[in-house]
Amino acid sequence: MAEETFISPKKRGRIAVFLSGRGSNFRAIHDAILTGRINADIALVFSNVEDAPGLQTARERGLETLYLNPKLYPNREEYDKEAVKEARKRAIDLICLAGYMRILTPYFCREFRHRIMNIHPALLPSFPGLHVQKKAIDWGVRYSGATVHFVAEEVDMGPIILQAVVPVLQDDTEETLSARILKEEHKIYPEAVRLFFEGRLEVRGRRVFIREND
Ligand code: GRF
Repeated sequence: MAEETFISPKKRGRIAVFLSGRGSNFRAIHDAILTGRINADIALVFSNVEDAPGLQTARERGLETLYLNPKLYPNREEYDKEAVKEARKRAIDLICLAGYMRILTPYFCREFRHRIMNIHPALLPSFPGLHVQKKAIDWGVRYSGATVHFVAEEVDMGPIILQAVVPVLQDDTEETLSARILKEEHKIYPEAVRLFFEGRLEVRGRRVFIREND
């Protein structure tokens, strides 16, 4: 079978950010939009957590927000169907998961194939899952970092867009390593989104190629 190719669209894009917590990556992406680095608008900030601090920030910044209560849906797929519907209503081009603490159903991943990004605080494919900064320290790795990747059905395993590396120091705690990694997250996530809407991300199989600017 021929390898599937995807090229990101060159346009002024419409982004939905999905978050469950403090939303510092959301802020980094929004800041890059405000300074003109990213050619896009955030058309929706979505959450599964009613009092997520990131939602509050979004309101303060005058962005549209939406909270859907997971308890009101019979299963994860029904919940995701509603989320997809809301995204479609707003003609969303790219969904940025930014600390969204729910695993997307295969249905959601298929509906927005190559149009969902995630940021992960480790060098994938090492340390998928949760509490990965602590896992990196406990394992004794000398380097860790952050990964921006497209979301595929297998959690944390979609095509890698950008990575940043940081050293793991001998006296690191989960907090100090997380802070060092977070700084890098705030650089590479906006950068990946910028490349996306410059039409420069080409996905071939599981590899992502960054095209020259034309
Ligand atoms: C970040 O560490 C990110 O890598 C992970 O969740 C955390 C979200 O932080 N997916 P924030 O809400 O963006 O501040």
